[in-house]
Amino acid sequence: MLQINLKGKRAFIAGIGDDQGYGWAIAKALAEAGCEILIGTWTPVVKIFTQSWSLGKFDESRLLSDGTLMEYKKVYSLDAAFDRPEDVPQEIKENKRYEGSAGYTIEEVAKQIEQDFGHIDILVHSLANGPEVKKPLLETSRAGYLAAMSASSYSFVSLLKHFGPILKNGGSSISLTYMASEKAVPGYGGGMSSAKAALESDTKTLAWEAGRKWGTRVNTISAGPLRSRAARAIGFIDSMIAYSKANAPLVKEMGAEEIGNVAAFLASPLAAAITGTTVYVDNGMHAMGIAMDSQALHASSLQTV
Ligand SMILES: NC(=O)c1ccc[n+]([C@@H]2O[C@H](COP(=O)([O-])OP(=O)(O)OC[C@H]3O[C@@H](n4cnc5c(N)ncnc54)[C@H](O)[C@@H]3O)[C@@H](O)[C@H]2O)c1
Repeated sequence: MLQINLKGKRAFIAGIGDDQGYGWAIAKALAEAGCEILIGTWTPVVKIFTQSWSLGKFDESRLLSDGTLMEYKKVYSLDAAFDRPEDVPQEIKENKRYEGSAGYTIEEVAKQIEQDFGHIDILVHSLANGPEVKKPLLETSRAGYLAAMSASSYSFVSLLKHFGPILKNGGSSISLTYMASEKAVPGYGGGMSSAKAALESDTKTLAWEAGRKWGTRVNTISAGPLRSRAARAIGFIDSMIAYSKANAPLVKEMGAEEIGNVAAFLASPLAAAITGTTVYVDNGMHAMGIAMDSQALHASSLQTV
């Protein structure tokens, strides 16, 4: 029987802050396949994440199919907007949410993981941040635009650059993108659409560079809408889920585990020849050119088959 077997593999998943998002679902699918899990959690939310875990708040979501609970080897405090300690501005160092934290830049986390574990096999980038995401692009400031690019796209370039040397030959890296990179999605502003376009373009260039340098594969998953913490903060996630249900070829709500399963496949030897690709896991929404529930179509003979 063909199986996804990640026994003996180790993954670092950057961007888990609770049990609601795609990062969590990916960790769970990789754990189901036998993979060892290291977590990168945004510095301001590390405490709440680890406390919630210890208090058993995630126990239900941690349940694996064999009845055991998903475990992690270690949680690393990470701010993927910074590459080296000297890049961290004074105001961040003094920020209450960073109090008592150290070693959270990408370079430091990569070094720490190398010291702790030697190498990893799988790198997952499941994080994004756009401080002006609610503003239309036309109203986005330069600072807001660049912050979105920094936290949501360059962060992947930097992660791969720093983790490439400790990614075992044949390793796999995966990021998460969104259709607003290639089609206008009003409401997904602040330069976030631009950041996702950069992420997808970089997937191709990095596949070439990292493939030749370390034998690493680089892919991105274009995911359909999920009611994660980040998506809820943007503000129109329920409408996007309803829109997708009304207009996508497959009439069902996206399950986070559907992304997790595809990530596990991409991370596994079954996908050994797949790199440089955007894989759509969105109930087929990306394939549609018109909205079937548009009022403008009501008078026509077009039908939802
Ligand atoms: N939810 C959706 O509908 C959807 C759709 C397509 C793509 N995605 C993408 O999936 C990925 C995961 O997002 P999600 O929706 O599951 O939400 P999420 O809230 O679970 O994950 C986003 C994570 O990014 C972390 N983060 C933000 N800034 C960071 C930084 N500077 N350094 C380190 N971590 C930081 C947050 O703490 C959070 O844990 C993102 O790339 C997102 O754009 C989401």
